[in-house]
Amino acid sequence: MKIVSIIGARPQFIKAAVLTKIIEKEPGVDEVLVHTGQHYDENMSKIFFDELEIPRPHYNLEVGSGSHAYQTGMMLEKIEKVLLSEKPDWIIVYGDTNSTIAGALAASKLHIKIAHVEAGLRSFNKLMPEEINRITTDRISDLLLAPSLNAMHLLKNEGLEKNAVFTGDVMFDSILFYQKLAEQKHKLSEVIDEKEFYLATVHRQENTDDKTRLQNIFEAFSELDLPVVLPLHPRTRTKLKEITVSDNVKIIDPVSYLEMILLLKNSKKILTDSGGLQKEAYFLKKPCITLRDETEWIETTEGNWNFIVGTNKELILEKIKVNQFVEQKNYYGDGKAGEKILTAILNF
Ligand code: UD1
Repeated sequence: MKIVSIIGARPQFIKAAVLTKIIEKEPGVDEVLVHTGQHYDENMSKIFFDELEIPRPHYNLEVGSGSHAYQTGMMLEKIEKVLLSEKPDWIIVYGDTNSTIAGALAASKLHIKIAHVEAGLRSFNKLMPEEINRITTDRISDLLLAPSLNAMHLLKNEGLEKNAVFTGDVMFDSILFYQKLAEQKHKLSEVIDEKEFYLATVHRQENTDDKTRLQNIFEAFSELDLPVVLPLHPRTRTKLKEITVSDNVKIIDPVSYLEMILLLKNSKKILTDSGGLQKEAYFLKKPCITLRDETEWIETTEGNWNFIVGTNKELILEKIKVNQFVEQKNYYGDGKAGEKILTAILNF
C-alpha cells in the first residue's frame, strides 16, 4: 500500500511525526511525504523536521505565502501532479489548514481515498478559514479519524458517522512521547530569562487582522501580574507595528516543539488563540485562557481548565485569577491514536 501524506504548517509536522514513525514500521506500507511549503521560515518548518526526526519530505512544493485562494490554488495544482505520478492508494491530511483542504480536494477528484486526521472539529464560526477547511475536508474524506467523542458526535449530527472512527488525539501521543526528551535536550534558561511567567501565543487571523482585538489582547497582557513570554508568529510580528506593546510582554522568535513543551511546563498559565496549545496546556495540566470567541476543544473548558474569553480585557484579567480546578477526565484517548489511525486505514 502506498500513502501520500500532505503537511505544510507547524501543527501538521507534529502530528505527522507520530504517524510517520508508526507507518515506517509497518511492512508493505510506503509513505511519500509532501510538504506544501505553507510554512517556510527555518523556525516555522525545518527545525521541526530536525528535532522530531521526520524524514526529509520527498516533495517540497514551495507554495509559500499569499491570499487564501492563491495559496490553496497553487497547492491544488502541485499536489495533483504529485498524486498523478505517485498513484497512491491513500492520502492522509491533517487538521484544518489550507494544505489540508488542497490535499483532500486534489485526491478526491482523482478518486484516491482520503483519511482525515483530526476530523469532526467545529467552531461553528464560518468566518474562520480553518472552519471552512474542516467542514469541506470532512465532507469529501473516506475515513474520518476523530480525536474525541465530541468530534464523533458532531460527525454523527452531519450524517457522517459511517466513515468515522474514534482514535484519540495524536497530539496526546506526541506529548507523552516527547515530554522527557524536551527536558533532556533543552534548559529553560537557554530559551528565556524569566523564571515565573505566563506563556502566550497569538496568530489567528481574526485577532491579528483586527486592530481593536489585537490592542485589547496586548492591553490585558500589559496589566498581568507576571511577565508574558510570547513566541511570535511572523503574521503577528507584522501587525504589532500598528499597536502599543508594553514591556511586560517578552517577545521571542517562534520556538521549536521541544522548547514549547519546556515553556508550557514551566509557565504559570497559558494565554492563546491556538487550537493545539489549548490542548497541550490541558495535557500538561496548565490552566488556559483562550483568546477566541469559541473553541473546538470544548472538553478542555470543564473544571476551570480553559476559559473562552475572546479579547475582552476585563474577562482575561478576571479569569487569570481563578485557581480552583476539578480533576480532568481522559477525553483524548490512551496515547495510541497513531496506531489506531493506521489500523483503521489498513482495515478500511
Ligand atoms: C496556518 C493555518 C492555521 C494553523 C497555523 C499554525 C490556514 C488557513 N491556517 O495559519 O490553521 O493553526 O497555520 O501556525 O491554513 N509566514 C511567514 N513565515 C512562515 C509562515 C507564514 O512569514 O514560515 C507569514 C506569511 O506572511 C503568511 C502569514 O504568516 O502570509 C500567515 O501564514 P499562513 O500559512 O497563511 O497561515 P497561518 O497564520 O500560519
